[in-house]
Formats: sequence, structure tokens, C-alpha cells
Amino acid sequence: MKEDIGGVSVKMEDGLAEKNEKVGYVKRVIIKKKKHCHGSKVKKPISNKALQKLFVSCMETFKGPDTVPSTKHVQNLCHILDNMKPEDVGLSKDIQFFKEENIVKENPRVTYSTVYKCDNFSLCIFFLPTNGVIPLHNHPGMTVLSKLLLGQMHIKSYDWVDPDVSHNLLNQPSQLRLAKLKANKVFTSPCDTSVLYPNTGGNIHEFTAITPCAVLDVIGPPYSKDDDRDCSYYKDHLYTAFPNGEIAELKEENDSYAWLEEIEMPENSQMDGIEYLGPQIIET
Ligand SMILES: [Fe+2]
Repeated sequence: MKEDIGGVSVKMEDGLAEKNEKVGYVKRVIIKKKKHCHGSKVKKPISNKALQKLFVSCMETFKGPDTVPSTKHVQNLCHILDNMKPEDVGLSKDIQFFKEENIVKENPRVTYSTVYKCDNFSLCIFFLPTNGVIPLHNHPGMTVLSKLLLGQMHIKSYDWVDPDVSHNLLNQPSQLRLAKLKANKVFTSPCDTSVLYPNTGGNIHEFTAITPCAVLDVIGPPYSKDDDRDCSYYKDHLYTAFPNGEIAELKEENDSYAWLEEIEMPENSQMDGIEYLGPQIIET
């Protein structure tokens, strides 16, 4: 299978990404230097100051599962991300993928690159072509900072009113849970970083690309099926579609609420992974 992120062209075979040298990432510079007095050459990947600063701050911020970072740490991360540019992760608006005329007619698939991953956090870039969608999904027990590096996208997000209470309002086995709308707006890069927490800030969200987009996500801790942090998908129903007397009396602004039904991963929403070819993180 071959995937194209404009200039980023990657052949996927047996889970391995095969690099095409005509990639859209800014080419990784290989510094060759003499190693001691033996004269042998070593490869040193190029790093990036802002990305390295982000990594160091993530190391200080994320302490592992069942922890939520302090406000001070999150503010610091936001400040770093607010100032990050596409070039800090090897991208540029001039890459073919990000040209507005680059419209994928059929099945605009979303692609992702993992910049770094450890037990406590991961750094991921998601590439959405025009009309590409990351459907409504949750981040159980996670804190996520999202920085739209390039493009324009619509973000809709919800938080549970009470995560433990579900209602049997459908004539189906699936239950509905009440959620409050937190965001429903268009973001255009460059824009500030958005933050979601385990129970606030819009933990359940959906991205829809208006133009080709790249989003850098800092996720702590990462998804883990073994650790009970699997991703669930949802369909939102109008709050007024299932009036529930008791709750209706409490909620005056019906527009701010919705019923969320857990669903299987929507068809065509499987993402393809591509190799990250931008500046490298140096583990200190
Ligand atoms: Fe997400």
C-alpha cells in the first residue's frame, strides 16, 4: 500500500514504512564526523530547539497513568506549543499535501506519524486531507494538548455530565449518556493550543478538516488497551431527540447538551501510520 502526504510518499509493507527520498519533510541532515582517532563516520540526526524543549517539558510534566499534570506544567507546555511552527517537526505549508487544491475525492483518509512515544506520553502528528474526519472519540484518563500546525479544521467536543450514568432511551442494547458541548467551532492555524483533561476541557472530540491540516498532539499517558485506556467511538444525538423528563427540567439550554451513544469504530476511519522524518528528539 502506498500513501501520499503530498510530498511525503511512504510505501507501507508489513507494517514497515519504506522511505521515499522525495519526502515533504525537510530532509534530515546527516552530520558526519570523525569518531575519536579511528576515522570512522557516525550519523547524527538533526535536532530542533523547540521540539527538544517540548520533549524535556513533557518528561517533567507527565508522571504516568492515573496522574493529571499540574496547571503550571500544562501552562508551560501550552506556551511551548503556542510558539511551535510546522518547520519544528519538518513540515511546511509549501508541501503539496497542504495546498488547498489538493482535494482527495474518495475516502479522505487520515494519516499519523509518531514523533516520540514512552510509557508516560506520546507526541503524534495527524494529517487530515480536506474533508478528512477523526470521528468522535474519547481520551480515558488522559490529558491531551493539540496544536493545529497547518490548515483549518472544525472541532466539536463534549464532556460527560456524569460519566457513570447511562440511560436506556434507545430501543436497542446500546445506552445513551448525557454530555455537555464544550466546543463547536472552526480553528485556523496559527492558533493557540487546546487542552483537554480526563473529565474536563472536551475529553470526547471530533476533528473535521476544512482544508488539509496537520495537528501535533501531546498525549499523556498514551492509549493502552492493557492499562484500560482504549479508544471508544461515539455518535451524538440531539438532546431533544430523547427527552427525558427529569433531566429536561434541569437543562434549559438544550443546544449545549447531547446524548452520546458508543459505537464501533466508524468505517473508513482506520488511520495509516507513516514514518516520522522530521527533526529527531535526543533523549537526555
Ligand atoms: Fe483525540
